[in-house]
Amino acid sequence: MEIKSYLKEQRLLVENAFDTLIPDAEGDFRDHIEAMRYSLLAGGKRVRPILCLAAARAIGRENIADQDILPVACALECIHTYSLIHDDLPAMDNDDLRRGKATNHVLHGEAGAILAGDGLLTWAFDLLSNPDHGNLSPERKLRITHCIARAAGSFGMVGGQALDIAYENTEFPFATLQTIHRSKTGALITASVLAGGIAAGGDKKQLAALEQYGNRIGLAFQIVDDLLNATATTAQLGKAAGSDAALGKATYPAYFGTKETRSLAQKAVKEANQCLADFDDKARPLRLLADYIYTRSH
Ligand code: IPE
Ligand code: IPE
Ligand code: MG
Ligand code: MG
Repeated sequence: MEIKSYLKEQRLLVENAFDTLIPDAEGDFRDHIEAMRYSLLAGGKRVRPILCLAAARAIGRENIADQDILPVACALECIHTYSLIHDDLPAMDNDDLRRGKATNHVLHGEAGAILAGDGLLTWAFDLLSNPDHGNLSPERKLRITHCIARAAGSFGMVGGQALDIAYENTEFPFATLQTIHRSKTGALITASVLAGGIAAGGDKKQLAALEQYGNRIGLAFQIVDDLLNATATTAQLGKAAGSDAALGKATYPAYFGTKETRSLAQKAVKEANQCLADFDDKARPLRLLADYIYTRSH
């Protein structure tokens, strides 16, 4: 299996599911829904939903259909996209390019972008709790919903974003840098993996291993995001390069320099793969995804 074709195929699976799971821009709320759809369908690597699907398949104990996992996978992408819309707002990172297109607030205004984010976040929980979507048991749906809510909120992504802003242009200990990265980015990535594992009926040991794997790749993902911000071009990234330094962000390259940062990312990915030692070949996509997180170019 080649990672490039695997990613493309999985991305299409997720995007086809959006067609049926995301409301059309029509009726009274047309403009608001259009603003949500604008960012959600703007592209993106779809790493979180792909991780969720891959983790479910890695468990491999039951025959869980894609249709059962896709509402969960799409919910994760809705939450991620909302976080990007709000991250780009003038009051946050003040970016005007995302996924190679104008950011949401540039096109829909600040109020429109805030509400598009609110709409996507809430839509995620609509997808997760809708009894008509998929055949997961209510008990599994509840566990998944709680796992994702915890990761998206004040003890995860939102809390991490608050720290990211609070520590701009300040001195900070290494532990704080780790906390920021683990919470603002790592938490939702870990939840994506765990949600897949829960959906597929993973046992305690398997879920603990998936959680450790998620923690490692989540950290690596944000370290690489920092590295690319410092070393790649805006054209390559589809979002502003060099912005972290301009905003005085707490990043790995600012703390360690690019060379050491690269080896720390590599180390995290190696540890992630070690966490999968007890999984068989059905976890191969998870292993490839860990490597991809280190080698990706955007
Ligand atoms: C960017 O996430 C923001 C971070 C949390 C680091 P991605 O790199 O997954 O962005 P898209 O979804 O592919 O645009
Ligand atoms: C994004 O962090 C984290 C979230 C959106 C939760 P960054 O601000 O570092 O990511 P980019 O570089 O804008 O994508
Ligand atoms: Mg940010
Ligand atoms: Mg940003």
